[in-house]
Amino acid sequence: MTPILHSPAWKHAERHAHGLRDQHLRDLFAADPTRFQRLSVHWNHGDDWLLDLSKQRITPDTLPLLVGLWETADVPGWIARMRAGEPINHTENRAVLHVALRNIGHAGGPLMVAGHDVMPDVRAVLDKMRGFCDAIHSGKWRGATGEPITDIVNIGIGGSDLGPRMATQALSAHRVPHLRVHYVANLDGADLATTLANLTPRTTLFIIASKTFTTQETMQNATSARAWLTAALGDVAVARHFVAVSTALDRVAAFGIDPDNAFAFWDWVGGRFSLWSAIGLPVALAIGFKGFEELLAGARAMDEHFFTAPPLENLPAILALIELWNADFIGLQTRAVLPYSQSLGLLPRYLQQLEMESLGKQIDRDGKLVGCPTLPIIWGEPGTNGQHAFYQLLHQGGRALSCEFIACREPDFPLPGHHEKLLANCFAQSSALMKGKTEAEALAELTAAAQTQEGVALAPTFLAPYKIFPGNQPSTTLLLPRLDPHTLGALIALYEHKVFTLGVLWHLDAFDQWGVEYGKQIANSLLPMIEGKVPVANVDSSTAGLIAAIKS
Ligand code: F6P
Repeated sequence: MTPILHSPAWKHAERHAHGLRDQHLRDLFAADPTRFQRLSVHWNHGDDWLLDLSKQRITPDTLPLLVGLWETADVPGWIARMRAGEPINHTENRAVLHVALRNIGHAGGPLMVAGHDVMPDVRAVLDKMRGFCDAIHSGKWRGATGEPITDIVNIGIGGSDLGPRMATQALSAHRVPHLRVHYVANLDGADLATTLANLTPRTTLFIIASKTFTTQETMQNATSARAWLTAALGDVAVARHFVAVSTALDRVAAFGIDPDNAFAFWDWVGGRFSLWSAIGLPVALAIGFKGFEELLAGARAMDEHFFTAPPLENLPAILALIELWNADFIGLQTRAVLPYSQSLGLLPRYLQQLEMESLGKQIDRDGKLVGCPTLPIIWGEPGTNGQHAFYQLLHQGGRALSCEFIACREPDFPLPGHHEKLLANCFAQSSALMKGKTEAEALAELTAAAQTQEGVALAPTFLAPYKIFPGNQPSTTLLLPRLDPHTLGALIALYEHKVFTLGVLWHLDAFDQWGVEYGKQIANSLLPMIEGKVPVANVDSSTAGLIAAIKS
C-alpha cells in the first residue's frame, strides 16, 4: 500500500477535503475576490506561463497541505535516484533517463547508467541525425533513381508514433518547405494503403521506428511498405529508402536495413518518453534540426525547473498534486484535456498513452494494492470543436469531472479575427463550467427575453428547468506564450514530470506496461486459428463463434 495513505499529511488532506466537498465553486469565488491571484502560478523563463488553478475545488490552504504528501513520499529523493541512473523501473530492472536525451548544451555534464556515461552516445546519435536531416533537406540524399526525397513515412506505433506525430502537427507553423511527413501506425491495412496511395516510391523514404523491432503492427506495415517499394524499384532500392530507429540494431539488420541507416537508442528510454531520442527523427525532418534542438532545449528548461523549484512553484509538482487531489479526495473519475489549439489537437491522444500507460495501474512497487484510486480516464478534443459535440454532457449531464484547458496567448497561424474568438470561447467554457446558472438566473433571463420577443414564445417557467446549469465542474487553465518548438518541448516535459511525480506519490512503477501484454498474447494464439492453420480450441464460446462467423 502506498506509504502516503497512512501519513498525517493524507489525514489532513482528507479532513480538508471533507470541508470543501459541499461548497460550490461560485461561492468560493464570491467569498474571495483575490482567488485568481492566490491560486494561479507563473513560470517565468523569458516567457511567462500561467497556470490558473482558481477554478479547481481548492482553497489557498490546499496545495500547502498536499505538499506534505510530496515530502512524505520523498519525491526529491526519487528525482535524485532517477538522475543517478538507478533502475527505478524495477519490474524491468532498467534506469529511466530520458532527461539525458536533452542534457545537452553548456551545462550538460555526464549522466551515468551502470557506471557508463551515456552522454557521448546521446551526442553521437544526435550528430548522426543532424547529418541525415541536412542530407535530406539539401537534396544530397537521393532515392535509388537519383531523385530527391519529398515524402517521409514514419512507421511505428504507441511511443514510436504518438509523440512525433503530435509534435509534427503541433509545429505545423514551423515546417520546412518541400518535405511532407506522414505517419502510419495501425495494423489495419487501410492506414498504410491510403498513405501510399498518394506517394511515389522514387521519392519516398520510410523510417521504421520501433524500440523492440518486434511489434506486430510495425513489422507488418514495414514488410508491406518494403514490398510496395521493391515491386517498383527492386531490392537494391531498400538501402536508399529505408532507415530505422531502434534499440535492437541486430533485428534492424536482420530485417535488411543497412546498419549505416540505423539510429540507436537505449533501454533506459521508455517508449512513451522517447520523443527526444532518434524516435524524434521525423520531427527533426519536419521542422529542421535546429527546431528539434529547440524542442530539446525547451524540455531541458522544464527539467531544470522541476529539479530546482520548490513544490508550490513547481508546475509538474502542482499538476500532479491536483490530479491526486481530484482522484483521491474529490472522487473524480475522468479528466478532459481540452486544448484550444488546432495544432495541439493530438495532445489528448498523446497524453492518453503517456499518462494512462504509465499510471493506469493498481499494484504498487511492493506488489500490493495501491489502496486508493489512481489515474482517472483521460480523453479530450481540441476546442472549439468539442463544444459542438460532447460539452452538452459536461454542462448538464450530471457527471463530475475535471477539465484541463490549454491555450496560447499568440496564435501560430495569425488569421485576422480568429484568435480572440478562440480565447473568448476557451475562457467562457471554464467560467460556465465553474459558476453554472441557477434557476432564478435562468428564469430572469427567459422573462427578459420573452418581453422583447414577438409572436408566441414558450413560457419562461416551462423552459427554465432546461436552462439551469449546475456548474461546479473544476478545471485548470494553462496559458502558454505561444506554440513553438521550445514551448512544446517544455510542455511535454511538464507532463512527463507530472507522471513521474504521481508514480512516486502512488508508489507505482510508472515505467512498465504489463497491462498491454495479455491481449497481445491471446492475439498470437488466435492468429493460427483464424488463418486455419490449427483447429479452434481452448477458446471461450464467444471467441469461437466470432471465428466461425468470419470463416463461414
Ligand atoms: O503498447 C505497448 C508498447 O510497448 C508501448 O509502450 C510502446 O510505445 C509501443 O508498444 C511500441 O513499441 P515499439 O517501439 O517497441 O514498437
